[in-house]
This record gives sequence, C-alpha cells and structure tokens, in this order.
Amino acid sequence: MTLSAPIFVTQSFSPPAEEFQRYVQQILKSHQFTNNGPLLRELEEKLRNFFGTEYLQFVTNGTLALQLALHGLGITEGEVITTPFTYVATTSAILWERCTPVYADIDPRSFCIDPERVESAITPKTRAIMAVHVFGIPCDTEALEDIGKRHGIPVIYDAAHAVGSEYLGRSLCAWGDISTCSFHATKLFHTIEGGCVICRDPEIHRKIDLAKRFGHHGDTHYTLGTNAKGSEFQAAMGLCNLPWLPRIIEDRRRVSNYYTAAFGDRIERPQFPKGTNYNYAYYPAVFRDEDDLLNVMSALKEENIHLRRYFYPSLNTLPYLPAYQKCPISENVASRIACFPLYYGIETEVLDKIIEIVKGVL
Ligand SMILES: Cc1ncc(COP(=O)(O)O)c(C=O)c1O
Repeated sequence: MTLSAPIFVTQSFSPPAEEFQRYVQQILKSHQFTNNGPLLRELEEKLRNFFGTEYLQFVTNGTLALQLALHGLGITEGEVITTPFTYVATTSAILWERCTPVYADIDPRSFCIDPERVESAITPKTRAIMAVHVFGIPCDTEALEDIGKRHGIPVIYDAAHAVGSEYLGRSLCAWGDISTCSFHATKLFHTIEGGCVICRDPEIHRKIDLAKRFGHHGDTHYTLGTNAKGSEFQAAMGLCNLPWLPRIIEDRRRVSNYYTAAFGDRIERPQFPKGTNYNYAYYPAVFRDEDDLLNVMSALKEENIHLRRYFYPSLNTLPYLPAYQKCPISENVASRIACFPLYYGIETEVLDKIIEIVKGVL
C-alpha cells in the first residue's frame, strides 16, 4: 500500500460539518462571540457533569490553566516540585509564574512522578506539587495527596492528557486541590484551543474566574488579571465533540490493541495502576535503545509516516533552567520513547503498513 498523504501522530477530530455549522449560524445571529456567552456556559455545565465536579471553568488553553492554578493558590514565588517527563508547557507555566521547578524523577513503570522522590525534594521553599497524568496514565494520587496533606502543600495535577480516563471510578481530571485540562485540537476531546481548571475550593474558583477576565467586574478593579476567556466558537466545537467522546475512545482502543497484538514484546509499554479505565490518549512505545528508536523513525519517515518523540528531551535538561538537576530515569526513558499514530478513524491498512515497517527494522 502506498500512502497518499503523510501520517502524523495525531489528527484533529472533525465533527459532522452540519452540526458545527448550526452552532456557527446561531453565534453569528446572536452577535455574541465571546465574554461568557450562552454556548460557553452550556459547555461548562456539560463538562461539570462529565467530570463529576462542581467548580470547573473553561479557559483559553491548558498552559494558562496551569498558570491560573498557581495564581489561584496564591503561589508567586518559591519551588514547585514537578515531573521532568511531560510536555514543556508544565515547566513553562511554573517558570512564567516566577517559580522554580524542582524535578522529582519518574516511576519507570508508569512514567509518572515518583512520590518517594517528591517527598525527598520538599524544602521550606516548596509551595506546590505539580504532577502530570502523563499520556492519561494516573499518577500515584493517594501517595501524592497524602504527602501534600502531611506537609501542608497543595497538589496540582496537569491532567492535559487525562480527559476520558478514570481512576478508582472517578474522572482522572477531578483529583487534587486543582486539576487542569487541555482541549487543544490534538487532544482526544478538543475545542480547537481551550482548557479548563477544576477546583475543590469555591474561593479559589472565584479568584481564578476573576483573574481570567482581567481582574475586574464592570468598573471595579480588584486584582491583576489576564485574558484567558473562551469564545463561543471554541464552545461550539466542544459541544459538537463531547457526545462523540465514547466513540472516539472506543476507536482509539481498537487501534491501541491492534498495535499491542502486533508488536508483542518488541517494545515496552507503560504499566497502568490497578483501577485505571484508560482513555487511549496516546500509544507510547519504549524501544530497547535510542538507536532502535531512530532507525524505526527513519524507516517510517521514508514512507511518509511520522512518529513523535513524546516526550523529548527530558525537561530537567532544558537549556534555560537556572541549573541542571539529574533525573536519570526520565532522561533514559525520554531517549528511547516515541508515540505511534493514534486517532479516530485511522485505517487498518495504515496500521498494517506501520507494523510491517517496524517489524522489519526490529
Ligand atoms: C502535559 C501537558 N500540559 C500542558 C499542555 C498545554 O496545553 P495547551 O496546548 O492547551 O496550552 C500540554 C499540551 O499539549 C500538555 O501535553
């Protein structure tokens, strides 16, 4: 089979055009394009029900969601213990809020932050723990939240990958003091750009709500704010996509199982804690070493198929950090991991082609 178009690691889900068009016509007619419009409020309500949470607010993207989480907790300086194995936005949000990321290495099985290392990294300057349910795999939430409680430190989860994953019967996006999501177009549920902040505390929720709309109500200015509001067009995309989520996850399960059955023990896979109902957000595969990974990537590239080195490099090696902090497990995993193409509707013929090439190299 010769591919007619390049295959990337992901492809944005497009809802049926007429469903989106109906919303667009409604928006154009209303002349309200943004500023907490009716579609945005409708989407927020549906997301509250979906995540089983009371205090959820939509924001422009998952990066601002993380920044607003720190802001809502009143964290403006000090150390935030975080994972080196994630997308750069987790670290960027910490740095942007003028805090210092302190990296705790990962668990080699789940690729999530290791709670024991988190506890050893606590100092009098620690202000928060910012963990990531990487690839939608649950962190050790019990251990992290126990550490948070014992030391009086809030736990923030970057749940950018976790929409649709459940842990112990609860949405994975509703744990900790605050959880944040990304609804970027590459995510399995998307609003083109977008995200949300989910809080437990109504006061923190209100503080974030004020900050995300410039810090004022009418002519009364309460606090420094920013602009993280969502538009009606983003909400419309979300309203179209949300009912599709079970089908999207089911199809991704099909693809993931297909890869797993074909690859067998040629590649290593992350381990999921017991009690996980996974969303199949990614298909990460760990190769024996970086050479194997690069050889597979280049053989696939010749056929116009593009794996993504998620997540690479390990963030503790970023050149603009104040100092290098050693995280050997994350650095090792990051050097030999990549995600395979995984999206709604990817054809079995494409999967067969990928599998044939990978088997040929390994
Ligand atoms: C783990 C993680 N955190 C945060 C973000 C940032 O989300 P956004 O792109 O919506 O700003 C991403 C983006 O992909 C991510 O993967």
